[in-house]
Amino acid sequence: MYQRKKKQSKLSLSETIGSLSKKFPMPSTFLRIPAPSRFTSFILILSLILNLYLLLDFNLPYVPKSKLSRSTAFSTTRRHLVFAIASSSLSWRPREAYVRLWYSPNSTRAFAFLDRHVSESSFSPGDIPPVVISGDTSKFPYTFRGGLKSAIRVARVVKEVVERNESDVRWFVFGDDDTVFFVDNLVKTLSKYDHDRWFYIGSNSESYEQNVKYSFNMAFGGGGFAISYSLARVLAMVLDSCLMRYGHLYGSDSRIFSCLAELGVGLTHEPGFHQVDMRGNLFGMLAAHPLSPLRTFKPWRRGANIDSSHFMFNIREYPKNPCKRPTIFFLQSVTSDKRGILSDYTRHIDGNCLSGATKNLKRIRVFSRKRYLDIEQMKAPRRRCCNVLPSFNESVIINIRQCGMDELIASYV
Ligand SMILES: *[C@@H]1O[C@H](CO)[C@@H](O)[C@H](O)[C@H]1NC(C)=O
Ligand SMILES: *[C@@H]1O[C@H](CO)[C@@H](O)[C@H](O)[C@H]1NC(C)=O
Ligand SMILES: *[C@@H]1O[C@H](CO)[C@@H](O)[C@H](O)[C@H]1NC(C)=O
Repeated sequence: MYQRKKKQSKLSLSETIGSLSKKFPMPSTFLRIPAPSRFTSFILILSLILNLYLLLDFNLPYVPKSKLSRSTAFSTTRRHLVFAIASSSLSWRPREAYVRLWYSPNSTRAFAFLDRHVSESSFSPGDIPPVVISGDTSKFPYTFRGGLKSAIRVARVVKEVVERNESDVRWFVFGDDDTVFFVDNLVKTLSKYDHDRWFYIGSNSESYEQNVKYSFNMAFGGGGFAISYSLARVLAMVLDSCLMRYGHLYGSDSRIFSCLAELGVGLTHEPGFHQVDMRGNLFGMLAAHPLSPLRTFKPWRRGANIDSSHFMFNIREYPKNPCKRPTIFFLQSVTSDKRGILSDYTRHIDGNCLSGATKNLKRIRVFSRKRYLDIEQMKAPRRRCCNVLPSFNESVIINIRQCGMDELIASYV
């Protein structure tokens, strides 16, 4: 959805894309440690750390190299992607700073589509994508009550970007001006797919209600989505005729979804695209994803009670009493050399409620090794294992490593 359902941010993870909105400046990176006592808490610490590791670098478990299959030949690079950013004359100036976060003039191809020209940017022209003024859409019907007709213009960005005839394109990637992409992760994800076939890749909303309303199989626009070159060319050809039929729909993403359905193409779900139909503080989701996010955020629908709203993932309790909440460890530093990556975390003290398991733990130090996965390895990910050294000097050292073939991590209750 583009207009009404303004996404506040779409964050990304490891092997895919996503974003972080400036509206929710997050403290670098963090770990949450479950509140006091019990060995299970400790096991949870470990899994969170492991999870954090997966967040930080998209290494997945090592899998012996198999014979090169056809798909490993898709050596897709940044240059093979063309980004089309849906913006408007009102939002472009305030939001170009978001785009600047991920756009590199030398290696990213992107265009921002606006309804009309805007005044000079505060950025130098090379630092942000060139602006394209969208074509006239007055002939298309729009009957959704209370919606914004700009949904048609935004849907037509698909056609307009294809018709620029850019050379050597494998994927067109669409997003809003507040969608932030992790370009290298996105490139890696898309390189799993054959761009010569018809692919529509993205993800639905975190909100069950939104998915019920629109579709579980629609790529929600705020989280960004990708269309393979071969499919985009055909979609561009038929889009205007589809737009005449879907005047009753709300958003641009519903229009693209409907038109692709007419072509007989369904969504390929990739979990790294994040619509973020949530409000409030995304800390809990960022901290714990992809385990059960803590509940620090609020449902999209204003006034809705978190207990009665449904998310597409399991959520965990976020106690009112701050002393019962998990302890937070903030990322302090990251260094790397040829032996691996070393990251340090220090405990954040929230008020006066230090007790239990983390009382004597001030620092966590994590060792890991960066691995480069080929496409086949990315298709069958397994999380990693770790060794926890006995704590010393209020610190604990965790060494993240590949799991043994039949190694299990069990929690003893
Ligand atoms: C981008 O390319 C220009 C011209 O080739 C070069 O001067 C500049 O250093 C490059 N910038 C980066 C960040 O690579
Ligand atoms: C792209 O190619 C088509 C077909 O050759 C042509 O009609 C169109 O004008 C071209 N667009 C641009 C922007 O050059
Ligand atoms: C204990 O940790 C602190 C903080 O990192 C460090 O300054 C100190 O040297 C450490 N002491 C020992 C004995 O390792």
